[in-house]
Amino acid sequence: MKGIILAGGAGNRLYPLTQITTKQLQPVYDKPMIYYPLAMLMLNGIKDILLITTEKDQPSFKNLLGDGGRFGVSLQYATQAAPKGISEAFIIGEKFIGKDDVALVLGDNLFYGSFEVFRNAVKSQQAKAKGISARVFAYGVSDPERYGVVEFDKATMKVLTIEEKPAKPKSTYAIPGFYLFDNTVAKRALKQQPSPRGELEITDLIKTYLHDGLLGVEIINRGMAWFDTGTPQSLLEASSFIGAIEQRQGMKVACLEEIALRMNFVTASQFQKIIDETPKSSYREYLRQVLGEFA
Ligand code: DAU
Repeated sequence: MKGIILAGGAGNRLYPLTQITTKQLQPVYDKPMIYYPLAMLMLNGIKDILLITTEKDQPSFKNLLGDGGRFGVSLQYATQAAPKGISEAFIIGEKFIGKDDVALVLGDNLFYGSFEVFRNAVKSQQAKAKGISARVFAYGVSDPERYGVVEFDKATMKVLTIEEKPAKPKSTYAIPGFYLFDNTVAKRALKQQPSPRGELEITDLIKTYLHDGLLGVEIINRGMAWFDTGTPQSLLEASSFIGAIEQRQGMKVACLEEIALRMNFVTASQFQKIIDETPKSSYREYLRQVLGEFA
């Protein structure tokens, strides 16, 4: 399965921070925001990744992440000229996706907790289990009207409706920015029409699978933390959360080098080289500690 990270957009809700750099390069506690969605793909075993950014910001992302070799992944880059909608990621990434299934993660979404539900869904997606070819996740929230909302029958797990930021949500389950699709996704996105707000909506794309009886939904249990870090308040909350976990456990969340080692994307001797290349910092000390404890 391939992975796409969509990290363009205007980021207006973070102005004036976004005058310095784009939203997805702002810090979430001790790392740039983009580390978290990249970690999400890596922890799901996805190594072939396309990062979509604005043209202006692409050099900064390349400077930070390079070709992904440091993290044992292959990173390609593409640009989105204007924020014309999340579905456009698949039109931009059509060649990259080729004949594969694809996971999309939004560049401002952060997940922390047991990844079992995601890993199982990735496996089912690859196995084409139950004839389902697109999967979304359902996360209970107090403010569903801010998100894409999925209504489903809990007994059969059949999806009933999908709506984008409904004024009167039919359920309290938001759809987080992590989605699994088969390779018909680009063709479907190409047929989409912009919504009244002028965007190719991800929810309209998901609805095409629902219409064809090919959509699955998985509930994310309450032990999982999900943040969409698009506003100053949510950015602060995500930073505080990550800071609290890291301080308490003495382990880093979304340390990409560590994930690469634990997922066997890099060997211990490659990891040692990575440490040698890392500037003297507490981050480097952490990497040393990880290698020391790695059996
Ligand atoms: O976070 C999950 C939610 O993300 C879903 O529940 C919604 O269904 C989905 O539409 C989306 O809602 P948002 O209001 O958060 O979307 P936003 O426009 O903020 O875009 C999400 C991210 O994608 C953001 O980091 C910018 C990036 N983006 C967005 C658009 C529309 C792009 O890179 N290009 C785009 O054209």
